Amino acid sequence: MARRPLVMGNWKLNGSKAFTKALVEELKRELDGVTGCDVAIAPPVMYLAEAEAALNSCECSCQTKQIIALGSQNVDVNVSGAFTGDISTEMLKDFGAKYIIIGHSERRTYHKESDEFIAKKFAALKQADLVPVLCIGETEAENEAGQTEAVCAKQLDAVLNTLGADAFNGAVIAYEPVWAIGTGKSATPAQAQAVHAFIRGHIAKHSQAVADQVIIQYGGSVNDANAAELFTQPDIDGALVGGASLKAPAFAVIVKAAEKAKA
Ligand code: 13P
Repeated sequence: MARRPLVMGNWKLNGSKAFTKALVEELKRELDGVTGCDVAIAPPVMYLAEAEAALNSCECSCQTKQIIALGSQNVDVNVSGAFTGDISTEMLKDFGAKYIIIGHSERRTYHKESDEFIAKKFAALKQADLVPVLCIGETEAENEAGQTEAVCAKQLDAVLNTLGADAFNGAVIAYEPVWAIGTGKSATPAQAQAVHAFIRGHIAKHSQAVADQVIIQYGGSVNDANAAELFTQPDIDGALVGGASLKAPAFAVIVKAAEKAKA
């Protein structure tokens, strides 16, 4: 089954108002004419307004605007009320955000987010009609101990066992081995493909149809030099890009590589 690739930029804790405006405008120029790949950016939520305004301004091509969707790096499970510092699904929708990253390893590690809590976020996003981008992946120690599949299965099961396989209809999974994030040491295409095939197979145990349509991105040191080879793999449906998403030319090379590989 043909799946439309998705390349998403996770800007993490980077940027400013001026940086956001400039990068979005440059991305619009660089991505002009791309039709075969979905593209999303997740700036810090502080700058969603700047990103939305820059996407909607008509100085550049209006067509390009339509291919760059907005996203967020996190969301809370609550919709409103006394939850200091949190951001709700409704607030994200207010800015036109669509793809919402949850379960990133940096949040699992630095904010002690559990599989169960992340599953609740997944449910909140489905409830709000937003697209969860569920990050999963093993640490270096787990990888060396041969636990990659067990870790990924456990992280998926938190959603599968509470919401069912249908929750993955229209959702996105990002396989991001922790040892590859920000290290310059990407998984090889063959390594990533093996885990992606395992992930799809794990969903298929519940529903083949859901498994066939779910987008599985690879993330971890994806750059303009290694993206094309990663995208040759049948179960790699795009990328979740950190560092290289902060530079429009590099990000555009990655998007165009996905478009070409999956044409
Ligand atoms: P890098 O591309 O900087 O390795 O980050 C990957 C990532 O964590 C995307 O969510």
